[in-house]
Amino acid sequence: MEFKIHFSARAHTYTKEEEDAVLEAMRNANPLTQGQNLHEFEAKLCRYIGGRHAFGVCNATAALELAAQLCCFDKGDEVVIPSHTFTSSAYPFAKSGARIVWADIDPHKRVVTAQTIADKVTSKTKAVVVAHLYGYGADMAEIMEMAKRHNFLVIEDAAQALGVEVEGKMAGAYGDFGVLSFHSHKNISTLGEGGALMVRDKELAALVPGLRHNGHCSFLAKRNDYWIPAMGNVDFPQINGRVFWPNNYCIGEVECALGLKLLDRINVINQKKRERAIRFIDALADFPELEFHRVPSSRHNYHLLAAKLTNGKRDEFIRRMAGDKKIQCVVQYYPLNRYPLYQTAGFGDADCPNADNFFDNMVSFPFHHSLLDSDLDYILQSTQDVLKELRA
Ligand SMILES: Cc1ncc(COP(=O)(O)O)c(C=O)c1O
Repeated sequence: MEFKIHFSARAHTYTKEEEDAVLEAMRNANPLTQGQNLHEFEAKLCRYIGGRHAFGVCNATAALELAAQLCCFDKGDEVVIPSHTFTSSAYPFAKSGARIVWADIDPHKRVVTAQTIADKVTSKTKAVVVAHLYGYGADMAEIMEMAKRHNFLVIEDAAQALGVEVEGKMAGAYGDFGVLSFHSHKNISTLGEGGALMVRDKELAALVPGLRHNGHCSFLAKRNDYWIPAMGNVDFPQINGRVFWPNNYCIGEVECALGLKLLDRINVINQKKRERAIRFIDALADFPELEFHRVPSSRHNYHLLAAKLTNGKRDEFIRRMAGDKKIQCVVQYYPLNRYPLYQTAGFGDADCPNADNFFDNMVSFPFHHSLLDSDLDYILQSTQDVLKELRA
């Protein structure tokens, strides 16, 4: 189908200064990976998110894989994960040996809360994944309080929530692990791929460089001949007698150089997305057929602009927006328990009525940062027209 307005997987354009940073790194960064830009990017992320160990990685999925490894699951351990999230919030934890238990979302906030995970937490729960989906920061204080009481680890999947503040603290700064994404679709992107892992515990953080980079480490003994026995050593990162197979999840210097610049712009991008979202939502106040999550504060960065259709006509709405108006709306976050991958792996059962109901009635509008105001006005006018038609 030909669209006038696509649901773009590219979120934003780059400024001249950002392009120059890329060119400078292309010409002069040496080496092109694991260099000064990575160190500066990690230090800046630490300052921005607040007081944790930050590690740049090739994408958020790699960060989730590392977090899952560092949870140190034993046989029988369970991990509670929202059924309504992106797939890589979940499968790394199954790969690392945990049994997935699906948690429901709050019907209005569209993320998990302490209440929605309460009945899924048992003595077997080793970890809980909280996804700040759509760019809304979940109620972290209550969840962290519950984690303390029940002694489970918390992984914040803040892939969609860079720059989101939850009660005075950044999303990603609460949990034992915080995960960020700089994928093409996110509010800032390091040329398509990129991510970061925030780690609270100092000893676990010390394992990440080796885990991220093939288990590379130094030969310990002082050497007279620097090339003997070889240029570098390889060993298992380990802690308390537990060893980990390593990975290569590194991010390049060009991406880090760009990330450094983009961190200066994320608050401005988030602010613009939020203002536009609120304007869009308010302009549809006379259409109760569409239920938005309206949050006019830094608690939401409106990475995505999603709504629930309350008239039971979701598919007809999207069909008309696509067919008549040439606007590509989509539905997102198929409950993970419905995917063949999770069903085959034995995680096909879920008791998540709010997630099912939201997904079955939701629509996600094109909402990338580089949309023109005239595009947004056209989406708004078309939405009003189609909703009126559907009343007839
Ligand atoms: C909630 C969530 N978690 C994880 C990811 C994975 O991010 P990446 O593409 O950087 O691996 C995404 C990406 O869409 C996401 O939306």
